[in-house]
Amino acid sequence: MKTAIIGSGTMGSGIAQVAATAGCQVKLYDTQPEALEKAKAKLDKILNRLIEKKRIDKAEKNRIQNNISYVNSLKELADSDLVIEAIVENLQIKQTVFRELESLVSGSCIIASNTSSLSIASIASALQKPERCIGIHFFNPAPLMRLVEVIPAIQTSEEITDKVVKTITDWGKTVAVAKDTPGFIVNRVARPFYGEALRIYEEGIADFATIDKAMKELGGFKMGPFELMDFIGNDVNYTVTETVYNAFYQDPRYKPSFTQKRLAEAGYLGRKTGKGYYTYPVIPKERGTGDEESPNHSEQSQDLLQTIFERILVMLINEAADALFWNIASAEDIDNAMTKGVNYPKGLLAWANEIGIDWCVKKIDELYDEYHEDRYRCSPLLRKMKRED
Ligand code: NAI
Repeated sequence: MKTAIIGSGTMGSGIAQVAATAGCQVKLYDTQPEALEKAKAKLDKILNRLIEKKRIDKAEKNRIQNNISYVNSLKELADSDLVIEAIVENLQIKQTVFRELESLVSGSCIIASNTSSLSIASIASALQKPERCIGIHFFNPAPLMRLVEVIPAIQTSEEITDKVVKTITDWGKTVAVAKDTPGFIVNRVARPFYGEALRIYEEGIADFATIDKAMKELGGFKMGPFELMDFIGNDVNYTVTETVYNAFYQDPRYKPSFTQKRLAEAGYLGRKTGKGYYTYPVIPKERGTGDEESPNHSEQSQDLLQTIFERILVMLINEAADALFWNIASAEDIDNAMTKGVNYPKGLLAWANEIGIDWCVKKIDELYDEYHEDRYRCSPLLRKMKRED
């Protein structure tokens, strides 16, 4: 399949590597010559590292590199079968590029977007043939993350969806098909991991390090919420939360936090600026240990850690059940999305079954009784599952 990628930044360069490794002829296009140079150099470095680790040999490196050509004109994409766009997250700009692209390619070319927050329906509406448009959402870094969300818009033909699911599966990825709704699967279901952690902190229940410890030690998460927000960047993570919140007509479940907003405003973006919830240059250890850390957190009572872990977990489970309730994706795809898109230790629906639906409903209802906020409403599906238990 002749594949083209528009935009050779963080995502575009990674997607090009995935397609080229799978044996596709790839054209990588960017308006900025420096961005193309950077992508080329980055790929060379990555492939050299893979050679050092004995994961590939020199011949494989050459094969992958020879599969990619770097182009600086959209016209060069005219013979493509599949084009994936990964440019700036701006609807008008994406629509303009898509209109021009459609005038160049054949009628059978699939035109896809890697957008993480725009609706696929709105992007597709720019095309003469919107049925050929679809969302193909990779995760960063694209070559390493196993999940790809495929998002058909209401205009997308079934044939195109099937073709794309097959292609991306052939590229070695796990596909989760998601409805064209804000945050798709991962960026919706993961919200409480950050939001509830921030809320627990803001209520003064525990500090950052204690909350992170609870999720890692009791939950088996690789990183705690605050470490992860520092890793993602508080600007990026805050924007995703705010976008999802507004896209859901300000559903209180997704309400952003002032703590994170102030960090973003102050430029305390996390690892990339050396300071976020933790301070990095001082003790550059994996887990941080910055100035916000409680000195005696290791002596925190087991009860507190358990309370924190249960509260965040049950909110995540409720979100996953609600995504299933609204038919955002199948149960299998929702669980795969979280284990393969954001490395959760278990799928949330499987986790709910393991600890008991009864227990989950009881925990959520306890939170609702305590706060009387819509944020803590139990998903109708979770309640129904309890009755059927
Ligand atoms: P980036 O800023 O790293 O790269 C964007 C590239 O597009 C730049 O090289 C820029 O020169 C180029 N570009 C801009 N306008 C263009 C045009 N009209 N024609 C051709 N090239 C153009 O951006 P990034 O992070 O790779 O994001 C790209 C898309 O992927 C966005 O829609 C974003 O929402 C989405 N995304 C980003 C993820 C991430 O973690 N960074 C994860 C999943 C999706």
